[in-house]
Amino acid sequence: MLILVTGGAGFIGSNFIRLLLKETSHRAVNLDALTYAGNLENLAEVESDARYRFIKGDIRDRALLAEIFAQGIEAVVNFAAESHVDRSIEDPAAFLHTNVLGAAALLDAARARGVKLFLQISTDEVYGSLGPTGRFTESTALAPNSPYSASKAAADLLARSYHHTYGLPVVITRSSNNYGPYQFPEKVIPLFVTNALEDKPLPLYGDGLQRRDWIHVEDNCRGILLALEEGRPGQVYNIGGNAERVNLDMAHNILDLLHQPHSLITHVTDRPGHDRRYALDSSKIESSLGFTRGYSFDHGLAQTVQWYVAHRDWWKRIKSGAYQKYYEGMYGKRLKKGKE
Ligand code: NAD
Ligand code: TYD
Repeated sequence: MLILVTGGAGFIGSNFIRLLLKETSHRAVNLDALTYAGNLENLAEVESDARYRFIKGDIRDRALLAEIFAQGIEAVVNFAAESHVDRSIEDPAAFLHTNVLGAAALLDAARARGVKLFLQISTDEVYGSLGPTGRFTESTALAPNSPYSASKAAADLLARSYHHTYGLPVVITRSSNNYGPYQFPEKVIPLFVTNALEDKPLPLYGDGLQRRDWIHVEDNCRGILLALEEGRPGQVYNIGGNAERVNLDMAHNILDLLHQPHSLITHVTDRPGHDRRYALDSSKIESSLGFTRGYSFDHGLAQTVQWYVAHRDWWKRIKSGAYQKYYEGMYGKRLKKGKE
């Protein structure tokens, strides 16, 4: 198939394109606006692959979408999004523009052209926050708590409605927190790993007892590929890591792997509206599509830490650019307070 992958220069999208080209015979067109989070360095090893093509552009650009679909697009995997909760708290509008209106433009283009499948990449954050027990299933009611998760829920529901109303063959995946190579160092695992490597404090929000369910990005990409090739239109598939960790313990794991002292952990002001716990029940994709994981959290975290150790140039370039200004704005005051 000729697959339109949007947001393919980001963290999960670039890992997905590499996997797709390595392990299938599909062809990929990568449409990415190259925002601060998009980085073509992530795709250097596939750049000259004849089955791959990059187009710089915005998923909201309907004229451009019509042109691209006319080239024979058969399926869409929509990764393109503003993806960071803290940024959504600072500037919700950007999230509505890309995550909601962008998804709407893509759905319309896919419908006008007719595709075999539209895969919407959603998130477990659409379910909101869990109490101490239980896990989210695909039928848990959506109750997003941040502007980011609300915008993702809107796109998820819009995609669902295009299946219901127009019969567009839509599949939705909702994954838990991803980690692994090429993740932008604003997200907690690469932020903590790279700060630890620079002997800088690890800013832990609030009491640090929030829990996340971690999945290695390669496992999520394999789940997405399964959903693309074998998923049933109209269905939602949770893709979790079965690896729930308390943030504080995850910070300890990272410091231990790098032989750095736990004293680098600095408790800072909590994130407003911070979700306490996420945990996904992935039994549907396991039993219906045969999904399995290749990484335990311990193995995946050790591999990921090693990747950041071996790719200092990649993250040093990011951390020395515009991101530095964001970091100062987001953490400057919090870290000063944390020290008091
Ligand atoms: P990311 O921020 O690393 O990448 C997003 C990519 O989208 C970037 O390359 C960016 O340039 C591109 N983009 C942004 N706005 C665009 C626009 N208007 N037009 C075209 N391209 C645009 O994000 P990620 O972590 O790789 O996440 C990918 C998808 O997976 C997102 O939809 C996110 O909501 C979802 N998701 C992420 C996680 C996670 O843990 N990272 C978990 C569940 C779901
Ligand atoms: P993050 O990687 O932003 O993912 P999400 O909010 O989408 O789950 O954060 C993961 C967890 O780590 C979340 O509970 C917030 C926490 N966190 C910190 O404690 N400090 C930080 O500097 C960041 C970015 C996150």
